[in-house]
Amino acid sequence: MSMAYKLLLLILLFSSYAMANPVYQKLGIPADEISQQAQWNISIPPSGKGLPQGQGSAQKGAEIFAMQCAACHGPQAIGGSAEPLMGEVGSLGGEYPEKTVASYWPYATTLFDYIRRAMPINAPFSLTADEVYSLSAYLLSQDGIIPANSTLNQDSLPKVIMPNRDGFIPVYPIP
Ligand code: HEC
Repeated sequence: MSMAYKLLLLILLFSSYAMANPVYQKLGIPADEISQQAQWNISIPPSGKGLPQGQGSAQKGAEIFAMQCAACHGPQAIGGSAEPLMGEVGSLGGEYPEKTVASYWPYATTLFDYIRRAMPINAPFSLTADEVYSLSAYLLSQDGIIPANSTLNQDSLPKVIMPNRDGFIPVYPIP
């Protein structure tokens, strides 16, 4: 047997072994731990069921936004490298539809839910309930959906009427 042939045989043997025994990287941790499920199972439906106690003002939200969000979303929640969070209300039926929180999202409770679980994108779950209420109030006040001196809490947030509230056709009862 020539040297080259032996080498080829070795490679073939090794690759068939590797295919039968794939070596997976040990990425992440198992998702079935109780505490982890509790952390993720925090969805807030349009009714606001499950919203935590707390409250926050648009004014306070503006301060937090400047410190923790503006670097990506822009100083006024528009014009940064990440999604604009305000503006374009009424654009959906026009020639250049733009989906922003203000123009597209049908329920204000989703804003609380999203910020709490996902933002800031580099530190999810780092904000307190009061901070998330404040940020929601600030962002909603940016488009005049609520007045600039508003305060939001678990009772008032679900009552906010978003501009695109009736822009969706529900296929199941709204929770
Ligand atoms: C390091 C950059 C970064 C920071 C800081 C950050 N965000 Fe974001 N944010 C993003 C990116 C990127 C997305 C888009 C994520 C996606 O589409 O999956 C996003 C999406 C969002 C959305 C959803 C927008 C949409 O239309 O889908 C909201 C609301 C939001 N961020 C709010 C905030 C708030 C409030 C803060 C501050 C507490 C914040 N973000 C901080 C990068 C950031």
